[in-house]
Amino acid sequence: MNRRRRVYEGKAKILYEGPEPGTLIQHFKDDATAFNAKKHAVIEGKGVLNNRISEYLFKRLGEMGVPTHFVRRLNMREQLIREVDIIPIEVVVRNVAAGSLAKRLGLDEGSTLPRSIIEFYYKADDLDDPMVTEEHVTAFGWATPQEIDEMMALALRINDFLSGLFRGIGIRLVDFKVEFGRLYENEMMRIVLADEISPDCCRLWDVATDDKLDKDRFRRDLGGLLEAYQEVARRLGILVENKPTQTQGPRLVTSNNT
Ligand code: TMP
Ligand code: ASP
Repeated sequence: MNRRRRVYEGKAKILYEGPEPGTLIQHFKDDATAFNAKKHAVIEGKGVLNNRISEYLFKRLGEMGVPTHFVRRLNMREQLIREVDIIPIEVVVRNVAAGSLAKRLGLDEGSTLPRSIIEFYYKADDLDDPMVTEEHVTAFGWATPQEIDEMMALALRINDFLSGLFRGIGIRLVDFKVEFGRLYENEMMRIVLADEISPDCCRLWDVATDDKLDKDRFRRDLGGLLEAYQEVARRLGILVENKPTQTQGPRLVTSNNT
């Protein structure tokens, strides 16, 4: 019987109280949303794949010195994380024109940007996460100038590392969104990578074919979302081939605690 206290439920994840103070359990749901949840579907197996993909990427980033909230994966859908105070800013890094940037500035989707561009969006569902500048972030006290510098530096390191990692498996990292949190330990505070990195919050295009291997398959009604996420997992080497049932088992309605 699952009696854990639910701390927070978002569109694609649930946070439960963790086994020790200062920890939480991050549970990946199968829900897919777009356009601030105006579009919604349940795609069986997505949560399992995102849990694995995010685990893999957070571990690799941790190994190269990016501090993260990740502790360890607990089961198919859940990971143990350090509890952080989430900074209410979505940090988007773009390498290639796509999505809202292409639309806003009238750029051709797929054109390489002159350099990587960082954008900030204020996390506020009721406002559809508006884009904001550093001025707004500091004036409203969402983050200090030092925290912005730290987030930007980390975001660029994450971009460099992930761009290379994905390029090595034939995938172009077009853009992605990350979130950061304040981790308090021993009277000290540091900014760490939090939330998730998965095809839900990245644009990943096959280098050879430009096929979309990310949530745009859902946003744009292209179909084949699960297959695309499986392909990303397969290329990362975290999905055992010939065993698709690994991610297509019975739908877990309640989370398991093992
Ligand atoms: P955009 O082009 O729609 O602004 O998206 C930029 C990147 O950020 C893209 O990789 C998808 C990701 N993203 C999220 O993860 N969550 C969001 O709410 C939005 C709008 C974008
Ligand atoms: N994450 C947002 C939503 O769930 C928007 C998006 O990813 O397109 O609505």
